[in-house]
Amino acid sequence: MEQKEQWSSKIGFILASAGSAIGLGAIWKLPYVTGMSGGGAFILLFVILSLLIGFPLLLAEFIIGRSTQKEAISAYKQIAPGSKWHWIGYLGVVTCFILLSFYSVIGGWIIQYIVFGLTGQVGGGNVDYETLFTQSVTSPVLSVGAQALFMIITIIVVGKGIQTGIEKASKFMMPALFILFIVLIIRSLTLENAIEGVSFLLNPDFSKLNSESILFALGQSFFLLSVGVSVMVTYSSYLPKGESIIQPAFSVVAMNLFISIFAGLAIFPAVFSLGFEPAAGPGLLFIVLPSVFEKMVFGTIFLLIFLILFLFATLTSAFSLLEIVVASVSKGKGGRNRLSWMIGSLVFMVGIPSSLSFGVWSDFSLFGKSIFDAADYLVSNILMPIGALLISIFVSYRMKKSVLKSELIQKSKYSLLFEVWYFLLRYVVPIVIIVVFLDVTNII
Ligand code: PHE
Repeated sequence: MEQKEQWSSKIGFILASAGSAIGLGAIWKLPYVTGMSGGGAFILLFVILSLLIGFPLLLAEFIIGRSTQKEAISAYKQIAPGSKWHWIGYLGVVTCFILLSFYSVIGGWIIQYIVFGLTGQVGGGNVDYETLFTQSVTSPVLSVGAQALFMIITIIVVGKGIQTGIEKASKFMMPALFILFIVLIIRSLTLENAIEGVSFLLNPDFSKLNSESILFALGQSFFLLSVGVSVMVTYSSYLPKGESIIQPAFSVVAMNLFISIFAGLAIFPAVFSLGFEPAAGPGLLFIVLPSVFEKMVFGTIFLLIFLILFLFATLTSAFSLLEIVVASVSKGKGGRNRLSWMIGSLVFMVGIPSSLSFGVWSDFSLFGKSIFDAADYLVSNILMPIGALLISIFVSYRMKKSVLKSELIQKSKYSLLFEVWYFLLRYVVPIVIIVVFLDVTNII
């Protein structure tokens, strides 16, 4: 039998998990949704939900994975044999499959911009990024081609395995991401009128919040931490049994919150300073940020570095999405490279309509949304909350409290933390999810 795969170090595990968490959500989606939902109030709501809902769920997934040492589906089977609970694992695998299919579309846009940078089509001070963006997303050849490239990189890394693939890549990509962000924030904050952007972010306008934006923030708190889909179950199953999970969970949540706020601080001051609309929507990052770099000395080089790091953040999330599907099929029996190619190719094909929905298929609509938006809505607002709800119920009602306690804490000084976590997971998480969900779907 093959040796079971494991992370080579705790920091490797933390960086890979933070890599899964930090991605398009923090850098692209949160900023533009915040822009459309009135700024600071939305961010505040997101921070609160991350701590009260996301964090307990992250710990719950870590417990399932580390205690069973198994990938998403088998882990539930081992804890609750002969029951249907392992359907949570299937739900997670399907959700990640769909998610990666449209995630790779945006990954492709980033790759296109990198190519533009290398071939001198961006930078130089007089590029109309609005037109460039429209061209990139509407051209079927460019967008599908770049999406394929993004998937190929993901497939190769996941095919290499945990230590030599995902861990090695994350250990390099994540620290680099932090450093570049700081450079970017300094630039953005020193632009004229930058303060307007800061106050947009820090002065919450609660009147802009409604039940829809609350569901959105709730969805984001799952999406940004990669919880509710058992990705973190799979990742923590590669952790040696005796390893603590509390500190890694804190680190992942903290890094994720930092980057989310960093992203806002890098983007909004620039948006206001350059006279753009904060509510620009999905194009915010691809249109506004390049314009910011245009104003810098050596702007093209900075833009390129930023794009590469943005790509890294997206890739490290994509690795986890493909990994959970590959791991659930291979079940530790090997053949990972071949499976990675097979599954990755399927994901790519399923993602093509999402890509085309920005261009040639833009007239086609599902439930009043484009294919891309419908897939995103299904994943972020329906499948992830359902997955999160089921995981919280599974861990807090199906698993024994004494087992959970011994899994979670080795030292008695954490007893209070355990009780708080248990309470949140058993009562607060499910109730909040159900209430928000029912309200938004207008059932109550
Ligand atoms: N957390 C990732 C992001 O913010 C998305 C993701 C969700 C990745 C679920 C894996 C699992 O971009």
